[in-house]
Amino acid sequence: MSGSNSHHNGYAIETVDLRRIYKLGDQEVHALRGINLQIASGQFVALKGRSGSGKTTLLNCLSGLDQPTDGSAILFGEEIGSWNERKLTAWRREQVGFIFQSLGLLPALSAYENVELILRMNKVRAKERHTATTECLALVGLTKWADHRPYEMSGGQQQRVAIARALANSPKLIIADEPTGELDSKTGREILSLFKRIVRERNMTMLMATHDSLVDDYVDQILHLQDGQIHRIEIPEAARLEQEQPTIVSAVEALSEEVPA
Ligand SMILES: Nc1ncnc2c1ncn2[C@@H]1O[C@H](COP(=O)(O)OP(=O)(O)OP(=O)(O)O)[C@@H](O)[C@H]1O
Ligand SMILES: [Mg+2]
Repeated sequence: MSGSNSHHNGYAIETVDLRRIYKLGDQEVHALRGINLQIASGQFVALKGRSGSGKTTLLNCLSGLDQPTDGSAILFGEEIGSWNERKLTAWRREQVGFIFQSLGLLPALSAYENVELILRMNKVRAKERHTATTECLALVGLTKWADHRPYEMSGGQQQRVAIARALANSPKLIIADEPTGELDSKTGREILSLFKRIVRERNMTMLMATHDSLVDDYVDQILHLQDGQIHRIEIPEAARLEQEQPTIVSAVEALSEEVPA
């Protein structure tokens, strides 16, 4: 056995008894109390649960922004707990795309420059920066808005700039925390179907914390958190139908074959 990849079992994310305890003075806050999950690569997954149930903490532990107190997180076959700060930084910069409710767009920069910035940080060459930025803005339907600054755009358009930015370096994993929280439901649906399309087309894995019930129509599964534990895994109706569809189609085909000419 050599290298941590030898354990790779096809999951994008796997955690074993993941725990996070925050120490506040002599108080302990048990934010995660033993999370066990397995998420296949290419899945679009929602994290739901009351405020304080541990959604953001879990996302932070998986994106390398925070480190668990105990247990393990295995990302694309590698145990994140064994990584040093340098490797964690590289992971965050190169493999994870972040989308937060507070978008963090720089007001002085155009949509194009906001997206391109992340590639500059990763020292991507000018020509490739241009290709990737143009491509990502096109993907989110903002080609014509490339030169506009955030304040010249609607909330939904700004959100799409943030999505384009998260996709710019072709991450393996997209982490989103309440990405539709401030959008009206029509715009929220547009953004969610965009997420779904991106996950399918680019075979990315996406984990999204949300309170938004609209997500049920778009995600492959919903993990319900309660007091730092996963207490239910739900496959929403829409995802179930999508998964069953091939079976229905082949059943219909089988039937029509039986019909005599
Ligand atoms: N840096 C921290 N220091 C101490 N306690 C923290 C810290 N971050 C989170 N907590 C606590 O951990 C628990 C889980 O918080 P977390 O932010 O993960 O919840 P959440 O599900 O994201 O909630 P919300 O829906 O409000 O965003 C809460 O009790 C919170 O107070
Ligand atoms: Mg949160």
